[in-house]
Amino acid sequence: MENGNNRGNWGSKIGLILAMAGNAVGLGNFWRFPYQAASNGGGAFMIPYFAALILIGIPVMLVEWNLGRYGGKYGHGTLGPMVYLQAREGIGPKKAAIYASLAGAIAFGVTLLVNSYYNQIIGWTLGYSYMSLTGGYMDTAKSTGEIFVSYIQSPKVFIFWIIAVGGLGYAVKRGVEDGIERWAKVMMPVLYVFGIILAIRAITMGSPVKPEWSSLKGLNYIWNPDFSKLSWKAALAAAGQIFFTLSLGMGIICNYASYLKPDEDIVASSFATVSLNEFAEIILGGTAVIPIAYAFLGPEGVGAGVGLSFIALPNVFRTMTGGSIFGSLWFLLLFFAGFTSAIAMYNYLVALLEEDLKVKRSTGALAIFIAYIIVGLPVALEPILTKTADLAYLTETDNWVGVYLLVVLGLIEAIAAGWFMGDKALEELNRGGYWQIPSWFFNTFVKGITPIAIAILLIFSTKDYIEAGYFKLVPSFVEKTPQLVPWVQGARVVIFAVLLTGFIQSYKSIKAKYGKELSENKVSIRL
Ligand code: PHE
Repeated sequence: MENGNNRGNWGSKIGLILAMAGNAVGLGNFWRFPYQAASNGGGAFMIPYFAALILIGIPVMLVEWNLGRYGGKYGHGTLGPMVYLQAREGIGPKKAAIYASLAGAIAFGVTLLVNSYYNQIIGWTLGYSYMSLTGGYMDTAKSTGEIFVSYIQSPKVFIFWIIAVGGLGYAVKRGVEDGIERWAKVMMPVLYVFGIILAIRAITMGSPVKPEWSSLKGLNYIWNPDFSKLSWKAALAAAGQIFFTLSLGMGIICNYASYLKPDEDIVASSFATVSLNEFAEIILGGTAVIPIAYAFLGPEGVGAGVGLSFIALPNVFRTMTGGSIFGSLWFLLLFFAGFTSAIAMYNYLVALLEEDLKVKRSTGALAIFIAYIIVGLPVALEPILTKTADLAYLTETDNWVGVYLLVVLGLIEAIAAGWFMGDKALEELNRGGYWQIPSWFFNTFVKGITPIAIAILLIFSTKDYIEAGYFKLVPSFVEKTPQLVPWVQGARVVIFAVLLTGFIQSYKSIKAKYGKELSENKVSIRL
């Protein structure tokens, strides 16, 4: 309550850091990272990955904490007004309002639509935890691929999905300190412990299947770069992974940072968030998943793509001693990781309702529960109604909202901080910091390399999307499955409508609070 806006605050430093780590450490680290790394050349993926971490990840993380704390001081928890407050310093209120509404639109689109499938996957992890304990995928009469397909086509999908979204709603309803922070304080330490157990199991398993497939060789696979596999495509995937895994370009780091007190440290806390996330991703995600998959399935198996977590690994748990225990640890780990991330998106939307429609938190939490079920329905229904397992609606939404738009939003934020607010943003960033960001760092990165690198990334991603046929009226990935075309087109209509709504909503929100500035086109409201 101490920032004077009745918006709530984090209860303790450790709680804040764990909540932020919970936000960043998600399915991205354990489900997405291993298959991204494996299908993009293993070690060769890690080179652009580290480059993107330093050039883009760390600077944008600082920018987002700063945007969030600064916005929170003015009572905002959402991106539109936050970006407005920084952009107005450079381009004046009128232009800033339009510019910031674009940011607000994307954050609204991401937090609503990424969770349309992310919540679904959290449901799968819960269902699979249950199946691990009850032996659901242990029956070798069916392949694990068949089991997965029959799982996503069965009513079980709904049960676990609704339980997951209900759990999220319950946590968010309790508020920042009593809900989000409490859950993170329990789930995050447990997650790290499970991850460490699995990683140790992975590296000590030797060669259970073929002498040449040892788990240590699996480690080699990601730590020994094969330079001939370096490619633009791998670089784009790596940079995209940095955005996703650090929760950047989504608005949710900013939202959590808005509950800080105006002079609470952000520099050291940003680094703590990045470090905890990278430990979970590279050390735990990389060591637990890749070597296990390698030892059992060999080099080809590791590149199994999206199915690595839900199809390849259950295969491993079937044959491994203590498989149902390790299987449960794995799926519960995924569940905790996903849950503590999805909470952040959920909270973003509840904050939006609180802020702009002045609804109570509990009403907001219920409204978003309903919204998430509605936007998630196509993802859940597609496999059942079309009897396919291609997940075309999910793929289309993820391509745009889970990957492409994050980069766009990252660029908008970096430019707002580096170019529009400029030196004042640096001053703001260092306020109350245990560590100070030197001006050379800010000038080189936030004002220079970072926005340029993101812009380059955006240009090449666009080119890549054109080549992959994502811009086509009928995208290439559904050309051969005409029954899926309406699902893809439907996803596009939803994305467009949500972005438009988000834009109008953000503009209105800015206008309601800063209308005077907009009509005079002069900055006058300052705290
Ligand atoms: N960083 C999160 C992850 O790795 C990103 C995310 C947050 C995705 C919230 C969805 C919901 O999974």
